[in-house]
Amino acid sequence: MEREDTRQSGTGAPVIDAAGSRRGYRRLARIYDWLAVPWLTNGLRREAVARLELRRGYSVLDLGCGTGLSFPFLVDAVGPDGRVVGADLSPDQLARARERAAVAGWENVSLVEANAEELSLDGQFDGILSSYTHDIMTSPLAVERAVAHLKPRGRFVALGFVRPTGWRAPLNLAFVIFYKVLRVPVNWDAETSHRPWTNLERALGRVSVKERLLGTWYRAAGTKAVAGDGPESRAS
Ligand SMILES: C[S@@+](CC[C@H](N)C(=O)[O-])C[C@H]1O[C@@H](n2cnc3c(N)ncnc32)[C@H](O)[C@@H]1O
Repeated sequence: MEREDTRQSGTGAPVIDAAGSRRGYRRLARIYDWLAVPWLTNGLRREAVARLELRRGYSVLDLGCGTGLSFPFLVDAVGPDGRVVGADLSPDQLARARERAAVAGWENVSLVEANAEELSLDGQFDGILSSYTHDIMTSPLAVERAVAHLKPRGRFVALGFVRPTGWRAPLNLAFVIFYKVLRVPVNWDAETSHRPWTNLERALGRVSVKERLLGTWYRAAGTKAVAGDGPESRAS
């Protein structure tokens, strides 16, 4: 199913088709790791985790963790005394993530089945990673809830595909293959799908954005400010 461009951003209302996503990711779970071409994309994941500026003992949330492809980098960054929590709405993706953690023997990784738009976890995190989670990042409510789970001065890093515009529109292949051919529901909302960091920017005040692959991929990073922080301390 594909949703149309009818939704407004910034409303704080639920916009994610959770049942449709669960169905889509059930179909995908078995082939997801192959589809995500880890050998090609691991460098981008590693760089994104570095932008979280995690230290040993920190806690980090992998929001929309899927099968846990980012776990190795997160576990490495926080060390055995740190904590990695993976949250995802798809039980099928989570089953793969659980298997990955068990095989690797990561005792500090825990998994939670949760819809990002209803996220309510114990405590706050030093960092949040959300990778290739277009639906989450284009939902104002999901991003607001995630940021509420971030400690003051905690870092949020998001990465994924951008729906390119203008002459680059034909480069939309990754987007089209992933969401249309595999029939995963996705938000095609004009503003947020061409600029998936919009809601994060609103929630944090400022983010730094890096685009690659001719503008079809982005990474956005920002810090949750506390009263008295200047604008320059929010993104870097
Ligand atoms: C494309 S996969 C990305 C998985 C992983 N982050 C990665 O980098 O490989 C998107 C994931 O987001 C999850 N997801 C989609 N909407 C969600 C929501 N509202 N709340 C939680 N997880 C969601 C899906 O179940 C899926 O596992």
